[in-house]
Amino acid sequence: MTVKTFGSSADLAREAAGIIASVICAKPDCVLGLATGSSPIGTYDELARMHREEGLSFARCTSVNLDEYKGLSGTHPQSYRFFMEEHLFSRVDIDRARTFVPCGTADDPAAECAAYDARLEALGGTDVQLLGIGPDGHIGFNEPGDAFVKETHVVDLDPTTIEANARFFASAAEVPRQALTMGMGGIMGARKIVLVASGAAKKAVLDAAVSGPITPRLPASILQLHRDVVVLWSEN
Ligand code: GLP
Repeated sequence: MTVKTFGSSADLAREAAGIIASVICAKPDCVLGLATGSSPIGTYDELARMHREEGLSFARCTSVNLDEYKGLSGTHPQSYRFFMEEHLFSRVDIDRARTFVPCGTADDPAAECAAYDARLEALGGTDVQLLGIGPDGHIGFNEPGDAFVKETHVVDLDPTTIEANARFFASAAEVPRQALTMGMGGIMGARKIVLVASGAAKKAVLDAAVSGPITPRLPASILQLHRDVVVLWSEN
């Protein structure tokens, strides 16, 4: 695991976007594993700029997102499909038919999860996976628990996650209690992983994930077992 520290979130975003852009340049029909949350927003801004000003093309890329709130449709402003549309998809030339986000309103969420894994497998996994980290060490929505879960699954959100994500909703009561998330098999199957985190509040959990024990109590710690992970960290 390589850890790089940056003086500003703008520098971090440039580095993260540069890594993703290199993957796209080397393999224009690559599979991008994408993340939501506030941490990757700067990276998406930079990728959109590279598309606009430098001709970086997503036309042949496929994207697979990590997770979605259960119960929210893609038109809900707090859904992750909506987030992706706003921060990246509408700003680049990606083909919407090749953008995948779990469906939060599927009639049969278990079948949706199984289909998501089947699609990921058919795509051959992701070439690069962008990740944030939750305050409880979650990646995607893989919350702390007794075991790592390999498959895409429906998860009960941890109270700390509900509290942390309440800032995006009118109140904590409106935060969905469950989500569909890619499991550790999908995440660890990425050929390259880029984890981005900013702010002093994330420092302790990040340090524990990078150099503490590998435990499902701190889900991001599993990344220590992956052979190509870069952690990009900025204090602000
Ligand atoms: C959500 C997402 C995670 C993300 C986390 C951190 O919970 N499901 O994938 O890493 O937010 O968010 P932020 O970057 O806003 O701290």
